[in-house]
Amino acid sequence: MKFFLDTADLSEIEEAASWGALAGVTTNPSLYARIGGKLDDFHNHIKRICEIVDGPVSAESVAMTRDEIVRDGRELAAIAPNVVVKVPTMVEGLAATRTLADEGIPVNMTLCFSVPQAILAARAGARYISPFIGRFDDISEDGLDQLNNVVQAIANYDFTDSTVNGEQIEIIAASVRSANHVTQAALMGADIATVPFGVLKKMVQHPLTDRGLDAFMKDWEKVQNA
Ligand code: G3P
Repeated sequence: MKFFLDTADLSEIEEAASWGALAGVTTNPSLYARIGGKLDDFHNHIKRICEIVDGPVSAESVAMTRDEIVRDGRELAAIAPNVVVKVPTMVEGLAATRTLADEGIPVNMTLCFSVPQAILAARAGARYISPFIGRFDDISEDGLDQLNNVVQAIANYDFTDSTVNGEQIEIIAASVRSANHVTQAALMGADIATVPFGVLKKMVQHPLTDRGLDAFMKDWEKVQNA
């Protein structure tokens, strides 16, 4: 499993990147709004993220028609070689994904909540598919079960004839709200988890690690004083 950071906050990205285990970043319009992002600075902001992170950086199109999504996608992809265009799962999004994929532009199909949506995304040439976990939990359904269904369904088929250069599709577990979501997503074989910075920090922690470290430090003090 690889880890992406799900944020538009540059200081979080810089900090997480410095930990040495970050493989990419995902953003969305809400995350950009949360940091007070301005429309005319959006492309520059994505450029700044791409300068911090070598791996894929998802930037979302907010257009609603296939032609506009394709135009948006081309502009976003021109920002940096590691930009991935995030496109919502809808008819216009699928059509745009096919065009972008045929041009060699990688797409992360987002707002995916079902197996049929995921298979359509795969057939339309999406490089990444993002099933959401937490938003199912928000409506009292099991987001992890839904993610598992998508992971298994995609693994049942070979989609390399649909994707750019026959690349393997990667499933991004999205809308991750806890370290346990990450555990379960890893056990079911999701390729990537995109996590908020708060979850990433919790992933590092374990009370037995703290207790063990404390004991090691105390014992080392004894060695120094022996
Ligand atoms: O990047 C999309 C997804 O991760 C959003 O998560 O917490 O807003 O449902 P959330």
